[in-house]
Amino acid sequence: MKKLKDKILSDGKVLSESVLKVDSFLNHQIDPPLMQAIGEEFALRFKEDGITKILTLESSGIAPAMMTGLVLGVPAVFARKRKSLTLVDHLYTASVHSYTKNETNDISVSKDFLQKDDVVLVMDDFLANGQAALGLLDIVEQAGAKLAGIGIVIEKGFQPGGGLLRERGIRVETLANISSLENGKVTFFEEAKN
Ligand code: G4P
Ligand code: NA
Ligand code: NA
Repeated sequence: MKKLKDKILSDGKVLSESVLKVDSFLNHQIDPPLMQAIGEEFALRFKEDGITKILTLESSGIAPAMMTGLVLGVPAVFARKRKSLTLVDHLYTASVHSYTKNETNDISVSKDFLQKDDVVLVMDDFLANGQAALGLLDIVEQAGAKLAGIGIVIEKGFQPGGGLLRERGIRVETLANISSLENGKVTFFEEAKN
């Protein structure tokens, strides 16, 4: 998606060979027109898939998930993160380990908001090691719902998450796929379609 890649090149900050800071438009301050364009792009890519629900993870997945839900006309649900859960009876829960932050969080979704007749689009802002996506897939499976695919705003294609998910036959749609952050420079993989 050209508009997103241009924004990454103009406003993103390469913090290291593995971390891209995008908190001026995605992770802290949010750029609404860009989020709207992102929502339109995901909606276009998944419009034939009978999506009934978007599932993401708080907090940075919420903005793109909400805009996609707006365009597709379906609700967006965000899994909540908690250090430890006590009342789990009415919740689907999964464990998500972050290699970046070296911590494990339980994530949870109320059984009220995901059911077996749902067709789910899982979304997130970043795909790195894929642990957050796997946790969300676990929750979709617990609900007995159908997975349509995964929508990612920024994939760090030089990290293993994307491969891990695609190897399982899962459809992963990425709007900007980064091949390298070396030498302080963002490089994208070539795409057939922008
Ligand atoms: P994984 O889920 O793919 O395994 O990723 P990882 O553990 O590495 O990511 C942990 C957190 O860091 C996630 O946010 C993820 O979105 C974010 N992240 C990963 N790589 C980058 C990066 O290069 N730049 C930025 N800005 N973020 C990155 P989170 O902890 O869930 O936080 P949030 O959603 O509240 O922002
Ligand atoms: Na995130
Ligand atoms: Na994040």
